[in-house]
Amino acid sequence: MTSVQNKLPLFSVQNITYAYEGSGTALDAVSFDLFAGETLVLLGSNGCGKSTLLKLLDGLYFAAAGKILYQDEELSEERFRDEAFNGQFRREVGLVFQDSDVQLFLPSVTDELAFAPLQMDLQGDEVRRRVEAALTTLRIEGLRERAPHQLSSGEKKRVALASLLTLDPAVWLLDEPSAGLDPRSVAWLTSFIREQSALGKTMVLATHDLQLTREVADRICLLNEAHQVELVGRPSEILEQTELLRSANLL
Ligand SMILES: Nc1ncnc2c1ncn2[C@@H]1O[C@H](COP(=O)(O)OP(=O)(O)O)[C@@H](O)[C@H]1O
Ligand SMILES: [Mg+2]
Repeated sequence: MTSVQNKLPLFSVQNITYAYEGSGTALDAVSFDLFAGETLVLLGSNGCGKSTLLKLLDGLYFAAAGKILYQDEELSEERFRDEAFNGQFRREVGLVFQDSDVQLFLPSVTDELAFAPLQMDLQGDEVRRRVEAALTTLRIEGLRERAPHQLSSGEKKRVALASLLTLDPAVWLLDEPSAGLDPRSVAWLTSFIREQSALGKTMVLATHDLQLTREVADRICLLNEAHQVELVGRPSEILEQTELLRSANLL
């Protein structure tokens, strides 16, 4: 377990409100802190705002009210116009989308994996080393010449994870990582998350999967159907509360 006491948060989410045009509230006055090295699960039923929250943490969306600090700097549209800040943030924080088809756009798996290190201007040898290491870690050596859009959803998920592994972010944002995976794939996903965590990475998962949450969470931020934070706490404080989980539509 990661100790989170007496540390400055890596991300501080402060009273965030977000609404899509023409649709109701997606997030209502959401606040929580995220500490370096912890695995935090954003737990909530469909539609409660998890994906929106991940996109805000990734600087893809910006809140209508409230703010998000990353290492004490406010994530604003203006801040991301600074190329140096944008580049550094994009190297440090990586989002794995729920739908791998959104993430994968290059003609081959190798191209996909080489993309991030090439963007970082790494040397050819280092790019190849990272690609090979990611292929091995995700056990997808056999897929290297395949076209990502022709793969199964489980294979696509591995390729999407591998394409972030070659970036080697300090913070992983994972949107419904276990959705659509068979039990064996969920088992490797669980070990993958634990391995990254053991390397000191900060992991944020958005999910309604209580089993996965139980296996990996250091802390849980429980979102309710009113798009608010119901409770933030340790798994032992939240996962045993049957009534609470039922009211959040998770049981
Ligand atoms: N692109 C969009 N346009 C309009 N409304 C959206 C859009 N994406 C999500 N929403 C709405 O915002 C709310 C939160 O959605 P989302 O963040 O996707 O929840 P979750 O990931 O927890 O299922 C839902 O009510 C959803 O209908
Ligand atoms: Mg979602």
